[in-house]
Amino acid sequence: MYSSLIKHIESFLSKNPTLQVGLDEICTEIQQKLPNYDWVGFYFHHPQKQELHLKAFAGKPTDHTVIPFGKGVCGQVALSNQNFVVDDVSSQDNYISCSIDVKSEIVIPLFVEAKNVGQIDIDSNKACAFDQKDVVFLEAVNALVSAFILRTNGPL
Ligand code: SME
Repeated sequence: MYSSLIKHIESFLSKNPTLQVGLDEICTEIQQKLPNYDWVGFYFHHPQKQELHLKAFAGKPTDHTVIPFGKGVCGQVALSNQNFVVDDVSSQDNYISCSIDVKSEIVIPLFVEAKNVGQIDIDSNKACAFDQKDVVFLEAVNALVSAFILRTNGPL
C-alpha cells in the first residue's frame, strides 16, 4: 500500500496542481487508504511568527489550526527538526489534544533546501499505530512535497 500511495502522489504532483490542491489530495488519499490514519494534516511555519498554521487536512476538523512553536508535539517538532513518534499520547505532558479518541501520533518535519518549513501530522485512534515503516513512508511523502514546492513555487 505504501509504495502504491507514493506512486499515486508522485503522479498527481507531476501534473503541477496548486500546492493547496496537491496537499489536499495527499491528506485525503492517505487518510482513506491507510486504516490507522484517522487524521492527516500539513502545518506550515508562518513566514514571520513562531507559529504553525494548518494548511490542509483530512479527518475531523480541529480547533488547533494555529500552534505556537514549542507547544504540543507539533510545536516541539518545529523547534527540534526531529521526527516524533508518540505511542501513547496520554504519556506526553506537552501535548495538545484534538480529540479524546486519539491514542497515538506521528509528526515528520518537512524540509525545503534543508530548512524546516512545516510538517505532516498523523493521529490514530489506535495506540502504537506507527512504526519505522510509517517514518520511511512519511519522509518519502514529504520529500515529494519538498521537490514539488521547489519546482513550482520556489523556496517558501
Ligand atoms: N496533537 C498535536 C496537535 C495537532 S492535532 O493532533 C490535529 C500536538 O500535540 O501538537
